[in-house]
Amino acid sequence: MREDLTTPAVEEAERFTAHNYHPLPVVVAEAAGAWVTDVDGRRYLDCLAGYSALNFGHRHPDLVAAAREQLDRVTLTSRAFLHDQFGPFCRELAQLCRTDLTLPMNTGAEAVETAVKVSRKWGYLKKGVPDGRATIVVAEGNFHGRTTTIVSFSTDPEARADFGPYTPGFRVVPYGDLAALEAAVDETTVAVLLEPIQGEAGVLVPPPGYLPAVRALCTRENVLFVADEVQSGLGRTGDTFACDHEGVVPDLYVLGKALGGGVVPVSAVVGRADVLGVLKPGEHGSTFGGNPMACAVGRAVVRLLTTGEYQARARELGAVMRTRLDAMVGSGLTAVRGRGLWAGIDIDPALLTGRRACERLAERGVLAKDTHGSTLRLAPPLVITADEVELAMNALEGVLKDA
Ligand SMILES: Cc1ncc(COP(=O)(O)O)c(C=O)c1O
Repeated sequence: MREDLTTPAVEEAERFTAHNYHPLPVVVAEAAGAWVTDVDGRRYLDCLAGYSALNFGHRHPDLVAAAREQLDRVTLTSRAFLHDQFGPFCRELAQLCRTDLTLPMNTGAEAVETAVKVSRKWGYLKKGVPDGRATIVVAEGNFHGRTTTIVSFSTDPEARADFGPYTPGFRVVPYGDLAALEAAVDETTVAVLLEPIQGEAGVLVPPPGYLPAVRALCTRENVLFVADEVQSGLGRTGDTFACDHEGVVPDLYVLGKALGGGVVPVSAVVGRADVLGVLKPGEHGSTFGGNPMACAVGRAVVRLLTTGEYQARARELGAVMRTRLDAMVGSGLTAVRGRGLWAGIDIDPALLTGRRACERLAERGVLAKDTHGSTLRLAPPLVITADEVELAMNALEGVLKDA
């Protein structure tokens, strides 16, 4: 009998880590493209893609080459000096976003924190909000990260409870409800911070017209529209940004995850000079933000996105996935939502929990992740093929049939 390497690896992780995650018992040893291989040699089709951090698949050759090349040159300078990848990365990303400036950070949460700080400072310096009074309007069901300020405006008890005292200055309104948003905006409001599609909430797409109406409201009321595209951006939905589907241009984009190509953590806030320009030296920063490795890989990511190939794949393969998922509604699924190669599916709770469904999918060689009880998120890498999408859908159909 073959040696079981999974069990001791799971036990070691359980024994020596804080239990802030509850991973599936799959211990990955290698990966390429849309596939991962575990320590016992089992192969899985990755339909989570690092919560969209792996939009271009595992170890995309262009991204690995960019990282390798940079490893042989310079890896870290801190922001005390410049390096030769910094200016080009900031310019190329700003150009991809069709705006002026890039402020690089590392994680998504850091980029959200950056956007919060920039919005407040903009409010005091440019809008004339009295000092200490700035408010930011956010949506119920949001997920913007895990810092103390960000969980202060989370409505998820798991993310928020027992982490107070909470940061004030946030107003929470129902997602997709324009009237509620309008009622929450007043002269102290500096920003509306939204995910254009709520990922963690279960891939919730707002009603058509909502995002343009938010944009118009923000313009009218002199409020910044901050779009957290950490998960929805960079090709996932079939356009470069989820905002593009409705022709909306936010004042600030918050980007992360796929910006690092699944190789290094890279995040950024990207926006107009009159907004990001409020920051002066010493007021914000990060030792690792915009480091040479991050910028080299980030540039390669931007290059991949400039051809439109991955956005098109997300659209076309997303349609294949959606057709199959829609056919399962009433046969194990109660609802399907999403855009591009990104779906939230609700499993009939009478059949299976989301967790159990993910365990059964893993047994059939497909990796996915549950969220909020009986909802699953499907976000395969954009390099997946149509046949592989069918394979994943066959596995899901099998799990539902056997439940
Ligand atoms: C929309 C959104 N914003 C921010 C974050 C936080 O990113 P990170 O985990 O890199 O801090 C996430 C992570 O899932 C996210 O989905």
